[in-house]
Amino acid sequence: MQAEAQFWIDHLGLSPHPEGGFYRETYRSPESIPKAGLPERYPGPRAFQTAIYFLLPSGQPSALHRMASDELWFFHAGCPALIHCLSDDGEYRSSSVGPDPRNGEALQTRIPAGVWFGAEPVHREGYTLVSCTVAPGFEFDDFQLGDRQELLERFPQHADLVRRLCQRD
Ligand code: GUN
Repeated sequence: MQAEAQFWIDHLGLSPHPEGGFYRETYRSPESIPKAGLPERYPGPRAFQTAIYFLLPSGQPSALHRMASDELWFFHAGCPALIHCLSDDGEYRSSSVGPDPRNGEALQTRIPAGVWFGAEPVHREGYTLVSCTVAPGFEFDDFQLGDRQELLERFPQHADLVRRLCQRD
């Protein structure tokens, strides 16, 4: 692991995330929305909003997953990360979160609810540190890690991407 990435992991107190990378929740709204006030896809009440720090070291991509809510990413440090998105109809889109708008990188980006996505730092020796927020607030019930075999069957035209960003069998 790059020393700078290890510094941030230690300094921010980050732990391994099931999708890859390291995170710590930094904010969870003390107020919540009852289930009846939310769309059907949320199985219970949810905090108004949550936020995390999220660090991706090179070689440990964020595996393909999807979430019930739009997620916002805010770039902080390191190199840009490429975010790969696959919508239900198989359309591929990528966006780049990073420090240089002259290079097509956004400081802030949105990943739409329901889209399969994964991310990786663009530099071999790099890392990317971002913050991520969702509203309503995050619960693992609203998060689905991709199954490699299922995604290969569903998106055969993106087999290389699925194999790289989905290590599960
Ligand atoms: N809390 C735990 N994991 C996550 C995540 O992947 N995204 C957000 N926004 N919050 C989380």
